[in-house]
Amino acid sequence: MDRIPEPELMNGQAQALAYAAADFSAGDQAVVARFADLFAPDVGAALLDLGCGPGNISFRLAERFPQARVLGVDGAAAMLQIAQARLAGEPGRWPALAFAQGLLGSAGLEPAPPGRFTGLISNSLLHHLHQPRVLWSALVPLAAPGAAVYIKDLRRPASSEAVLALQERHLANAPPVLQRDYAASLHAAFTVAEVRQQLLDAGLDAQLQVAELDDRYLEVWGRLAG
Ligand SMILES: C[S@@+](CC[C@H](N)C(=O)[O-])C[C@H]1O[C@@H](n2cnc3c(N)ncnc32)[C@H](O)[C@@H]1O
Repeated sequence: MDRIPEPELMNGQAQALAYAAADFSAGDQAVVARFADLFAPDVGAALLDLGCGPGNISFRLAERFPQARVLGVDGAAAMLQIAQARLAGEPGRWPALAFAQGLLGSAGLEPAPPGRFTGLISNSLLHHLHQPRVLWSALVPLAAPGAAVYIKDLRRPASSEAVLALQERHLANAPPVLQRDYAASLHAAFTVAEVRQQLLDAGLDAQLQVAELDDRYLEVWGRLAG
């Protein structure tokens, strides 16, 4: 099945609110647990959550690694407003967590956040990117030496029938807006073979590996020389 890209930023108010209201807790927790399994305790003192959306993963990273500063970055103002409101809603609970607007593009992440990061995490961002190389080429300039990288995303099924089957298996009771987004995301996602080629093209294949995960994901992980 050919890839059908979807819009990069999730800037619509209704779309951002529906996403933030959905319960992705099991998947979000799995991302943080997998990052910890792979790299803890050596995750360092500065973690970056790329394409953080409403901050689901950022908040969990801040809870799990209280010694680290955590920065969540997203290009969509509608998503960041929700993340900022959550943060402001519980003052003092996550003292080392912050959010900032930033757009991943051909010039990297702009504006570039200060400092280098010891951990680079991203969930469900890659499939939004029209040019996936913008993610891979942004990593090295953002990374401190030896930075831990964990990137998880959907992987594209072989057919639209397989997309429907996954939608029915995992999102049968979700609101229509989320079901529509989910199907669009599966069509926009990459295969493991495509991501392997992307890593090769970016010169990252010796440092990062990619594998299938469960029935619908892929994951990329490794340490960057920096
Ligand atoms: C499906 S959401 C995932 C949000 C979050 N990582 C999570 O797991 O809940 C994808 C996010 O990536 C953001 N995004 C897409 N393209 C981007 C880009 N080029 N630069 C920055 N953010 C981007 C979208 O705005 C959206 O908030």
